[in-house]
Amino acid sequence: MSKSIPKIPPNLQILKLTFLFIGTGLSMFLGAMIVGAWLIPDLVELSTVRTPKGWFLAHLLLLGWATMVAMGASFQLTQVIMRTTLFSKMLGYIQFVLHVAGVIGLMLGFYTHIALIIVGGVSVTIAGILYVYNLLMTCRKRKEWNVFVLGVSLSLGSYLLTIFLGIAMGMQAALGTNAHMYEATFHSHLWFGIAGWLSGLIIVYSLKLLPMFYVSTKKVTTSGYWIIGLYHVGVLLHVISIWSEMQWLAHIATGCMVVGLSLFISYIFAVRKYRRGRLPIGTVKVAFYLLPMMFVLFIAWSIAKLLPKGIPNLTEGLIVTIILGWFSASILSYLFKIIPFLWWPHRYQTKEQRKSAVLLYEMLPGNRMTIELIGYLVGIVLVVSGFILENSILALVGQLIAVCFVVIYLMELQKVFRY
Ligand code: HEM
Repeated sequence: MSKSIPKIPPNLQILKLTFLFIGTGLSMFLGAMIVGAWLIPDLVELSTVRTPKGWFLAHLLLLGWATMVAMGASFQLTQVIMRTTLFSKMLGYIQFVLHVAGVIGLMLGFYTHIALIIVGGVSVTIAGILYVYNLLMTCRKRKEWNVFVLGVSLSLGSYLLTIFLGIAMGMQAALGTNAHMYEATFHSHLWFGIAGWLSGLIIVYSLKLLPMFYVSTKKVTTSGYWIIGLYHVGVLLHVISIWSEMQWLAHIATGCMVVGLSLFISYIFAVRKYRRGRLPIGTVKVAFYLLPMMFVLFIAWSIAKLLPKGIPNLTEGLIVTIILGWFSASILSYLFKIIPFLWWPHRYQTKEQRKSAVLLYEMLPGNRMTIELIGYLVGIVLVVSGFILENSILALVGQLIAVCFVVIYLMELQKVFRY
């Protein structure tokens, strides 16, 4: 569709589009964190996140922040992985408008009228279809098959299923039909959205990004197919077990995911072991260590679910940890590398400019920002503890600490643009 402009490298051709998604995502994150200081203590007091306040916050963070940044970054990463240019920039802008309008509609819908959930949901869905089409057409240009194409395609499939299931819930609630299917739809929505889409995407991009950031000689091999394959088969089996009510299938599903994730964790440690780069890695350390930590939490959650009496608020606690802890901190950590990486070639385009240019790794204070990101995570640990112990004051204190550190971290991040 779009004609490639000679001389301008592909990463710069779509720079504005990428920054539009990333900038809007970051603003929505900041907004969600600030509003969270009001909403999170209320949710703790209500002892449930399944209220309009919970839906509002969850979707602002998942669709407005994590998905928005993932979309912007994936345009760039797909270009890098496929060594080609994005199929259409224009489609990207149309998708942006529809996605933002849809997210706003959805947010209002959760508070006001179900019809708005459906209208907003349809807008998000059209944006999602345009996004998937744009990426698939970009991949078709090279007609290449590799583990990244597989992983990103499976995550995109999960994303589309998540939004279809979301609209199905809105329709069921509005029309009162198929009420008996509502809970199964809801749980499938969660599995595809949190596990299939965003966790799956972080896993596949980490396969690519960690060796790049660590400058490691360890590259992904056929084990990558096992990691991605077993993980997504596990997610799918979990959803089938929900609909078929076959509990034993859920155990096989968890088994598949645990094997796939074990391979993944041993892969990332090998990446670090075969590191050749000597330059500081900055906040990427945080994203790195969060991976094994989340793996251990997933196993602990799977075991705790087997207990006859169960643990109250366990799944809610895990979901809050995943969204605010893992997703948000990993995205913030990867942006520490991605933003300078995009800005530097834009700022220094000629050989002459590059002679006196600042070094890429000197653009941001890596050690200080790592401490700030850890400070943010300490706040989130208190928020999750507040949820589990049903202590709203603890959750509020945690959220305020997290907000302070996020503000400082974002102020540091924008220092890239002073160059
Ligand atoms: C068209 C887009 C979407 C629509 C219409 C939609 C709709 C809904 C609805 C109606 C609920 C409330 C279910 C209930 O508690 O009874 C819900 C909950 C939820 N959705 Fe979505 N959703 C969409 C996209 C997504 C995406 C992309 C994700 C994840 C990446 C997601 C994650 C969640 C989560 C975590 C909850 C539980 C929130 C809570 O209980 O507070 N949704 N969604």
